[in-house]
Amino acid sequence: MDERKLLQLAREVLPLAYAPYSEYRVGAALLTSDGQVFRGVNVENSSLGLTICAERAALAAAVAAGCRSFSLLAVVSEDELGPWPCGACRQVLSEFCDENLKVIISGKKGEIRRLSMKDLFPYPFIFDKEKLSQEK
Ligand code: THU
Repeated sequence: MDERKLLQLAREVLPLAYAPYSEYRVGAALLTSDGQVFRGVNVENSSLGLTICAERAALAAAVAAGCRSFSLLAVVSEDELGPWPCGACRQVLSEFCDENLKVIISGKKGEIRRLSMKDLFPYPFIFDKEKLSQEK
């Protein structure tokens, strides 16, 4: 699966985004280490804070199908350059995606921005219960 194909798969779901409040549609396609693709769109809510971003929707679909290992994430929107994933999504992605996960972002201009999880989120919060109990 090459980058262009994964971006195309993300673009295909853009019309399914539920974004009546912001009217900003986002699509995400997450490639697993064994070649499967899970997609997500943003799902907004009247109570705006409960909105689910496309990236988290794609990740949840993958986890629900038993996939926890990923190699590439494509994120697209309809503006010129595509979205920077929000901080909440960066933290949630970091639960399953190590710093080597590649992230590609694109908008209607077609340019591709390429980053790694390390670029996007260098210091994730990690809850380490064992370490905490050793410190007690
Ligand atoms: N949004 C995403 O789904 N992913 C991003 O990377 C950035 C923001 C959504 C959340 C909300 O529905 C809309 O875009 C505007 O913030």
